[in-house]
Amino acid sequence: MFYSNRKVLVTGGASFIGSHLVDQLLAQGARVRVVDDLSSGVLKNLEQCMDAIEFIQGDLRDYSVANDTVAGQDIVFHLANIHGGRGFIDTHPGEIVQNFAIDGNVFRAAEENGVDRVCFTSSACSYPVNLQTMETADDMMHLSEEMADPFIPGAALADGEYGWAKLMGEMALKGYHKQFGTKGVSCRLFTVYGPRENESHAVIALIAKAIIKQDPYEIWGTGNQSRNFTYVSDIVEGILLSAEKITDCRAVNVGTDAAITLKDAARTILDITGHQPEEIFYDTSKPEGVSVRTASIENQKKWLDWSPKVSFAEGIGKTIDWYTKSVDREALVEHFEMLLFERSAG
Ligand SMILES: NC(=O)c1ccc[n+]([C@@H]2O[C@H](COP(=O)([O-])OP(=O)(O)OC[C@H]3O[C@@H](n4cnc5c(N)ncnc54)[C@H](O)[C@@H]3O)[C@@H](O)[C@H]2O)c1
Repeated sequence: MFYSNRKVLVTGGASFIGSHLVDQLLAQGARVRVVDDLSSGVLKNLEQCMDAIEFIQGDLRDYSVANDTVAGQDIVFHLANIHGGRGFIDTHPGEIVQNFAIDGNVFRAAEENGVDRVCFTSSACSYPVNLQTMETADDMMHLSEEMADPFIPGAALADGEYGWAKLMGEMALKGYHKQFGTKGVSCRLFTVYGPRENESHAVIALIAKAIIKQDPYEIWGTGNQSRNFTYVSDIVEGILLSAEKITDCRAVNVGTDAAITLKDAARTILDITGHQPEEIFYDTSKPEGVSVRTASIENQKKWLDWSPKVSFAEGIGKTIDWYTKSVDREALVEHFEMLLFERSAG
């Protein structure tokens, strides 16, 4: 009942995760406004609920857009971000750093308009990369919240411009809390997948390659890099609980602790789609990110009394089902290489 009748702004609400969050907020009785510039989000993601929300197209790099859309809201879920999968974030650093402006505008507007609370979608990329190599992280290494902190010597070496912007976003939100008492939380999301995600992210890219029957079937990197892929409905549940239960602007992991290698994820996808390539090609010239990444879920359990429920086997089945039904195969083939590196087909 926490969200019932509350006025809630979702920045970036036309995105993959944002649109699922909007669906859940509506189901819980919230009055939802979305602001999005549609640079990677698409209105199709909101078509099922467009009549029930207020949608504003605007660019949050402009402070007046942030101020106008935050005004009058009780809660702000801040997801708007210049972001994509590994292919995008490693090749667009000059665009990614514009996230400093977006986050700064949204947090300032939230404080100046006296909103009740702010929930910032941070990322596992805020964790130091030196903790996520095969040499430093054994199989039991789970990233715990205190391991990424700009005020602790040695605890800040975020993953590229994207990770640094997230870590600095967390720090900015905490700064508002320290000085002005702003209430909120930063959710460090771990490798989300599910319906409505785009091909610049590993899981959807691997499904797309199976659908077009790519052979040799390409996996970026050695295939031994591991991730704790977390299904989008779990992510949304974790975000909603975090905003309800945490107000001191600390960071909390939202994700599973079940690690799986890219190689194994691809094997599951090939089995389900029935694609049997003659060769699998591990393309180590392509961006692959850190080698080992998984969340500690101890604080998530303690602070939220919650942990994710959807197994990879279940989530990947639903994702493949959605992708197979919704993909435009002709457009996929035509734009395939571009889709792996860009955050939208536009
Ligand atoms: N997908 C993941 O695995 C993952 C992991 C960790 C964190 N996150 C975070 O979750 C959030 C949602 O990500 P996503 O994967 O659903 O899709 P996404 O990255 O496409 O979502 C970003 C949304 O912000 C909008 N946007 C971008 N620039 C904007 C601007 N200047 N003004 C207004 N809107 C703007 C885009 O159109 C899009 O709808 C992002 O903050 C992302 O960093 C995602």
